[in-house]
Amino acid sequence: MRKPVVGISLKIYMNRRKEAKQYIEQLKAVCTDISSADLFLFPSMGTISVASEILQNTPLHFGSQNIAAIENGALTGEFSVESLVDLNGSYVELGHAERRQNFNETDQMIQQKIKIAFANQLIPVVCIGESAAEKQTVKSHLKAQLAADFQGIPSTQLVQAIIAYEPIWAIGQKEAASSEYVHQAHGFIRAALTELYGEKVAQAIRIIYGGSVSKENAAALVNDENVDGVFVGRFGHDPANFKKIVEIISEIKGGR
Ligand code: PGA
Repeated sequence: MRKPVVGISLKIYMNRRKEAKQYIEQLKAVCTDISSADLFLFPSMGTISVASEILQNTPLHFGSQNIAAIENGALTGEFSVESLVDLNGSYVELGHAERRQNFNETDQMIQQKIKIAFANQLIPVVCIGESAAEKQTVKSHLKAQLAADFQGIPSTQLVQAIIAYEPIWAIGQKEAASSEYVHQAHGFIRAALTELYGEKVAQAIRIIYGGSVSKENAAALVNDENVDGVFVGRFGHDPANFKKIVEIISEIKGGR
């Protein structure tokens, strides 16, 4: 049985220590006592130290929205995994559509970053998904991304990865993708993982959905055996809404 997952990224919405502190403390409070789901937060990169101070030994894990493709060296402006480990972060978001689009991240770079994440005992949350133009070929697109991003990763590590399915056209919208569409895509991902890495690995990996998730649509989105949770954005900026989403996922997934 796969344990459900609920995560949230703050992108660069809350960047000052004061506002980050207030939000993270509230989020910590609503996540206390939750053991039925794995929870993670990716704060704005400049406020990871705030999360680190507040979230030690709590059920709310935290991490960074990116790491450099090398651990240490001449890469001006990048964020090193060494800093994340030093801050006791345990998750890292890799390959988000905004990184792929705005910073030209390739599957090959993402694959390198996944390797660095695992070498440092971090859990990578690997984002994949198609653009509106790629909808026609979504099945092969997702399989190609999975093959490229996870190439050369041993299955003992692979089973610990979390895949975030985030159709690019559903990010930052009023509405998420329809639950039917999401369930079908998660089925494609599970099938592709089975073909690429075998049944055992495919059954162990958690696949969560991201893209305009809200407390209103979360229940329908996760009501499918291949959807193991959600990755929340804007609609979790109110901690009460994030709490509600965690409750919905825990209830539907039966706290497995
Ligand atoms: P959104 O962000 O919920 O604000 O669309 C989701 C994401 O990009 O992960």
